[in-house]
Amino acid sequence: MNLTEPLHKISFSVTWPPSTTFGAGTVATLGTRAKARGATRALLVTDVGLVRAGMAERVAGHLRAAGVETVIFSDVKPNPTMLEVTEGVAMLRRDGFDFLVALGGGSSIDAAKVMSMQLLSGRSIEEIEVKGVDDAGGTPIGFIVVPSTSGTGSEATTGALVKDAHGKKYLVRSVRCRPAESILDPELTITVPPRMTAATGMDAFIHALGSYTNAQVNPIGDMCAIEAMRLVNENLEVAIADGGNLAARSGMMLASHLAGIAISMKGNDAIHGLSTAVESVVDCTHGESLSALMPHVLRFNLATAVPRYANIARLMGGTGVDEAGLAAQGVAAMIDLRDRAGTCRHLAEVGIRADMIERLTALAAKGRSTQINCRRPNNEEIAALYRAAL
Ligand SMILES: [Fe+2]
Repeated sequence: MNLTEPLHKISFSVTWPPSTTFGAGTVATLGTRAKARGATRALLVTDVGLVRAGMAERVAGHLRAAGVETVIFSDVKPNPTMLEVTEGVAMLRRDGFDFLVALGGGSSIDAAKVMSMQLLSGRSIEEIEVKGVDDAGGTPIGFIVVPSTSGTGSEATTGALVKDAHGKKYLVRSVRCRPAESILDPELTITVPPRMTAATGMDAFIHALGSYTNAQVNPIGDMCAIEAMRLVNENLEVAIADGGNLAARSGMMLASHLAGIAISMKGNDAIHGLSTAVESVVDCTHGESLSALMPHVLRFNLATAVPRYANIARLMGGTGVDEAGLAAQGVAAMIDLRDRAGTCRHLAEVGIRADMIERLTALAAKGRSTQINCRRPNNEEIAALYRAAL
């Protein structure tokens, strides 16, 4: 752990999201913001749920009011595949679009990011995973993101997760195709149902936790992570119980964004490493799978992460002077947060069986998030974590 490393012994770099506007009602500025970036014809990438709820039309209305022609693309599914991405890229090429807006949770945002990457580079997803796209010629399409959930923080990161036709997950990154601008309007999250609020909120917390405690060094990322954890601890339960509480929704939206910044600077940990493998094998909700894995990775890490877990305990209300005792309190407080959120406690609940563990272990061992965990698990230890979480 590098908690006490003096600054003159470390080095780090900082990349922020280019531009962010936060505040209730700020989605109304989308049209003028897109127009200022040269938009004349925009593809609004979203999902069918937001179309049914009328939100896609309302957001498209803000673009149209500013004179930006807008077509809604609502084919994005949860855990998006290259099928939707390819369809979107074909539309962008064919129908003269000069702007991209993503409205939704991580799925729509990630699908739109990959559309931008493919549009710029013409590369397949396999090529993008290996080579990226940032060496490609040309200029990326203008791109604004409007999150409708608080969890993924995808608006703040350069990465995107997408599946191919066989269900294999690809994590791709591009600094140039990241959103040029994000509009964080907490009013858009008021109608998110309780269970989705819980699962996305735990995702935000686990981003912050993972980035704060992993083996990477970045004190500015740590500051974002600490504040994100404090905000989730303070607001998640209220946001679940009382969806219309704008104060709690605002706290969660800022937490999600700060946690996204933290992972873009430091990456995740083994909770995400093991969960990504789970999500490659079964179709499940990201935050639910993370919730089932979290306690086991926390206990596995405890002895290695004492100073950091003690700090987390303090920001969650823990008291005492004994660092090891506080760290154990931190683990208990984080598990209690998950229990109060009411998300999954066992991987069996998301469809995982004991006979899948060998395959999961091989996948998880290869993941970068697993490899940068503060205590790097070997294959036997990964399998044991899966068995414990089952
Ligand atoms: Fe996540």
